[in-house]
Order: sequence, then C-alpha cells, then structure tokens
Amino acid sequence: MNSHQREIVQKTANFIEKKFEGEGTGHDWQHIYRVWKSAENIAKGEQCDSYIVALAALLHDIADHKFYDGDLLEGSRQTKTWLKEAGADENTIEKVADIVKRVSYKGANVKDDMPSIEGQIVQDADRLDAIGAIGIARAFAYGGSKHRSLYDPKEVYEMHENFEAYHKSESSTIAHFYEKLLLLKDRIHTVTAKKIAQERHQYMELFLEQFYSEWEGEK
Ligand code: ADP
Ligand code: NI
Repeated sequence: MNSHQREIVQKTANFIEKKFEGEGTGHDWQHIYRVWKSAENIAKGEQCDSYIVALAALLHDIADHKFYDGDLLEGSRQTKTWLKEAGADENTIEKVADIVKRVSYKGANVKDDMPSIEGQIVQDADRLDAIGAIGIARAFAYGGSKHRSLYDPKEVYEMHENFEAYHKSESSTIAHFYEKLLLLKDRIHTVTAKKIAQERHQYMELFLEQFYSEWEGEK
C-alpha cells in the first residue's frame, strides 16, 4: 500500500467508526474492527491487493440488508458514494463495491458467489466473526434485539432456498446455529481461515451440548 492508499484506508476507518457508534445488534465498530484485522491476517497467506482487502473489510456492513428491508444493493451504493468522497480511484471503487454487494450470507441452500480473492478474504473474516465464542455472543445479542426466544425445542429448522426466505426467518437464536453458524466452516475459502474456523466450530458444538443438558436440568 502506498501512502495515499493508507490515508484513504485510515479516513474510511474513522468514517465507519463514527457511523457505527452505539450500534447494539452485533454490527458495531468492534465487529468491523475485528473483520478488518482478521482480513489483514488472512491476506498475509494469499496473493492479493491488501488495499482492496482493507477497504472492503471496513465497508462490508456499511448498509446491511437487514436494516434496509432486504435491499442487497444499498451497501454498494453507499460504498461508492463514500469512496468517491474519500478520493479513491474508479477501479478501486468498482472492486470494493462489488465485494460489498456479494459478501452477505443468503441462506443455507444458497451458493456463495465471490469471484475475487480479496472478496473471499473479507467474506472469510466476516464469517469467522460469526462463529466461536464471539459468534455465539453476537447471535444472542442479535436475537435479543429482535425479541427472539433463546430456544424452542419444538421448532423445526429450515434450510433456506433463497434470500427472501432467509431474510424473513424469525426463528429462535439456537435455530440460527443450524440455519447459518454451523454451516459456515464448510463455506470458507482460504487455508488460514479454515484452520481457525475448525476450532471455533468445535467450540460451538461444545456450547450446544452444554446448552441442551442445562435445558433438561441434567448438568
Ligand atoms: P455478518 O455480519 O456476519 O454478515 P449478519 O449481518 O448476517 O452477519 O448478522 C450479524 C450477526 O447477527 C451475526 O453474528 C449473525 O450470525 C447474527 N444473526 C443474524 N441473523 C440472526 C438471527 N436470525 N438470529 C440470531 N443471530 C443472527
Ligand atoms: Ni459483518
């Protein structure tokens, strides 16, 4: 990265930190910060453009579809507006906006479509933050913000066939583990992230085992 690029990355970090102040649904600045740092770490093991990785990590949740009534394009629109203002070149703007448009998880039976290595790195980093101890904490924080129950033993888990169905889902937070979190380890692109994902996955399995025993008053 040259000094002009570093300056734009820093400006973007400041802008996003300010924009996300006080967010309480798992999409706070700390989530963005972890994804940024984790993407930088994953990028070390890949041939990639670290400038694009940093900007896409910082901007990936700029306008999450969950807060824009399922609109997947609002993020890339806001990304373009910001990067123009920050003084980024056209080629960078297009690449970053394209990653932001594709990054979200869209349902258990919806295949990911992330062609660039920079996008794959950011998607991996974002998914790592959805699993493990932090992922568990974020899921319950999100569920709480939507007044969802922790768990419903009678609930049937749904493998969503399209984004529409996934977006509308109102399942309990434990159901979210089966509809997304436990599936993520097999949807990771890079070797570095795969290793981390396996450990975090095991931790969630252990958590669920303990959760079910406590539910029945067994432990
Ligand atoms: P990401 O930022 O990883 O793309 P999302 O935007 O889908 O993830 O969601 C933000 C956080 O909230 C994630 O940790 C995710 O697992 C969690 N989350 C999303 N939907 C639900 C849900 N229905 N129940 C519980 N947690 C959820
Ligand atoms: Ni995210």
